Amino acid sequence: MTPTPRTTSTARTDIPKVPLLEALRALVDGRSVRIDMLSRLQRMHDERGPIVAQHTGLFQMVNLFGPDANRFVLLDRDRIFSSRKPWMLIMGRIFPNGLLLRDGDEHKLHRKIMHEAFTTPALRNYLERMNPMIARGLDPWRGEGFLAFRAFKELTLDIAASIFVGVALGPETRRMNGVFEDLVAASMSRLRLPIPGLEFQRGLRGRAFMIDYFRKLIPQRRAGNGDDMFSRLCRAQSEEGARFTDADVIDHMVFLMMAAHDTTTSTLTSMTYELARHPEWQERLRDESRALGKTAIDFDDLEKLPALGWVMKETLRRYPPLPVIPRIATNDFEWGGYRVKAGAMVVASPIHTHHMPEWWPEPQRFDPERFTPARAEDERHTHSWVPFGGGAHLCIGYRFAEVQVKSILHQMLLRHRWSAAADYRMPVQQAPISKPLDGLPLRLERA
Ligand code: HEM
Repeated sequence: MTPTPRTTSTARTDIPKVPLLEALRALVDGRSVRIDMLSRLQRMHDERGPIVAQHTGLFQMVNLFGPDANRFVLLDRDRIFSSRKPWMLIMGRIFPNGLLLRDGDEHKLHRKIMHEAFTTPALRNYLERMNPMIARGLDPWRGEGFLAFRAFKELTLDIAASIFVGVALGPETRRMNGVFEDLVAASMSRLRLPIPGLEFQRGLRGRAFMIDYFRKLIPQRRAGNGDDMFSRLCRAQSEEGARFTDADVIDHMVFLMMAAHDTTTSTLTSMTYELARHPEWQERLRDESRALGKTAIDFDDLEKLPALGWVMKETLRRYPPLPVIPRIATNDFEWGGYRVKAGAMVVASPIHTHHMPEWWPEPQRFDPERFTPARAEDERHTHSWVPFGGGAHLCIGYRFAEVQVKSILHQMLLRHRWSAAADYRMPVQQAPISKPLDGLPLRLERA
């Protein structure tokens, strides 16, 4: 399916639709849609084809399926899709003005400045500082009924306090971590009313706390030479000399912490689950890590752990932390012979594409060797593997995520061997961000 030119006059407007009753049922029963979004998307695609409209009451929602659709939406060559508009609807009250909530030239400029915090030297430095924290964090992990999701959440929050904000662990970071969790919960909350006691109100209070916290530190960080992400954003400038205002720095910091935190926790949890279910892969990765002969990895070691890289990619294929990517069309456009009106919410679905049998043989099978150079199933199409999105809004933190996930898994493999009950299947909530419903109970012993 390739996009047809916008001038085609034969394009139809009667896009195949999810029947009203079914759409209403999905709206009312949001919980089961969140838990099993993949089956719903697969049903829509299999029964109605590569473009399907849904009633939402507020606006038209149009799902486009498959790698060509991902390329069309994410590359946005005609500049017709806004990222800001849908993401504002979803999280604008709690995370306004993050990078993903900016469009066009403004987004381009902010991304250029932010790049300073994601260069290779910056990543090398983050990794060096992260390694001892990972060691300290992992050491006490052991036992039966160990809840991996919670443990990863705490570990990545502690790392964020140091690497993102540049503060040492202590009561202040514990408070910040708590506030930060309130923010994330509020952004996902269905009841968005500022009523005392509701999680949304706690989120708004948390946002005010974070703004105040960062604002007080900015002058000192602008003047200093800190190498945490916050200090780098304070000093960052584009080649043309453009810099962030105080308000920009604060908005970017709060958004970055959110964008990094749940996605990385989700990836670590899903990888750990698959490695518990596939002990042969866990042993293979442990052998690979032992062969490196280092208790912690350097930046240059990332490429020396290829099997770990395949497992990470396969896990992101099966459990993309962001299962769908929304945009709002700012102009009419045509796709696959149908005309879509400006104002429609257009949804690309990494989770659906990642399970299309045409692109991924036996898509339900955990098979990291798909990503070996010999098979390279991800190279059959530029947009068949898109856990980090693509185009102008391609995840700016994807190399940071690789650094963090690989360094944690390397140290964990050397320290611990883990398993789950023989008949255990992780109950996953696939949306809005993939996570286990039961915290992923594991048994951990010394490796
Ligand atoms: C495995 C971990 C991660 C996954 C799967 C992931 C996924 C994504 C996806 C799919 C997008 C694009 C969303 C869209 O186009 O609407 C995105 C954007 C973004 N991500 Fe990530 N992310 C991860 C980790 C991180 C980390 C660690 C950071 C920061 C350190 C980060 C910061 C961002 C930012 C700032 C954007 C917006 C980019 C822009 O608008 O130009 N992400 N991420």
